[in-house]
Amino acid sequence: MKRVENKVILITGGAMGMGRTHSELLASEGAWVFVADRDAAEGQATVDRIRKSGGKADFIALDVTAEGEWNAAIGRILNAAGRIDVLINNAGILVLKPVQDTTNAEWDRIFDVNVRSVFLGTRAVIPAMRTQGRGNIINISSIYGLVGAPGASAYQASKGAVRLFTKSCAVDLAPFNIRVNSVHPGVIETPMTKDLLAPADQRKAVLGPTLLGRAARPEEVSQAVLFLASDESSFVHGAELVVDGGYTAN
Ligand SMILES: NC(=O)c1ccc[n+]([C@@H]2O[C@H](COP(=O)([O-])OP(=O)(O)OC[C@H]3O[C@@H](n4cnc5c(N)ncnc54)[C@H](O)[C@@H]3O)[C@@H](O)[C@H]2O)c1
Repeated sequence: MKRVENKVILITGGAMGMGRTHSELLASEGAWVFVADRDAAEGQATVDRIRKSGGKADFIALDVTAEGEWNAAIGRILNAAGRIDVLINNAGILVLKPVQDTTNAEWDRIFDVNVRSVFLGTRAVIPAMRTQGRGNIINISSIYGLVGAPGASAYQASKGAVRLFTKSCAVDLAPFNIRVNSVHPGVIETPMTKDLLAPADQRKAVLGPTLLGRAARPEEVSQAVLFLASDESSFVHGAELVVDGGYTAN
């Protein structure tokens, strides 16, 4: 028996970075993965890679800030699969700016993509999960939702909001047997951190607090997501799973 055998999983931001490796690992462990992203070409590429290695996946065009598109995405999955076992709110953007230089538009955009999307997705999936009598929602926050760091105030505020929204949902949704948890990755090598991890002196400064002394591969976070998506985590609820090489331990 594979670890998420036959589970129907919707993941946002599955086209690139960690969303792609989460999708691939979950599919290799038996899930039917619906890869949702605004980037159709890369999203379809993720699906093609999964299918090529024998997994089950479909692409769904979704801008996570658009409520109507959420409803259409959920409807499509319910038509095809009849249920949604797991929602992974993974899509996110990073704006690197100190608070004094952050514009209103940048603040609003980051909250739209990183926070409002998690609310919209959660609310959209609740009716199906209630009907099923069970559900599982995994929200991707960050170490930057736990501690401060230079030059990322709007991003950190957004990830802090995701952390506490998760706990609030854990309280509201427990009566419906819907588990809700957050994941807090440290510094991971993805397209998002390409500029953050270069040049060499900046890379060294960013990685400074990471006790293990390196950035992680996206696959190392996927293992934590797999655990939360599986029934192995059946009593994990309202928790924050930190995957940061010790960044926040010091
Ligand atoms: N990379 C890191 O070091 C790191 C650390 C902690 C947390 N995170 C978080 O992990 C998640 C994934 O990060 P990543 O590094 O893989 O990012 P990434 O930039 O490599 O990939 C993000 C994906 O989200 C998609 N996306 C962005 N906006 C979208 C929208 N409006 N609608 C639909 N899809 C959208 C992109 O197309 C892309 O496929 C994000 O929430 C990020 O904040 C990343």
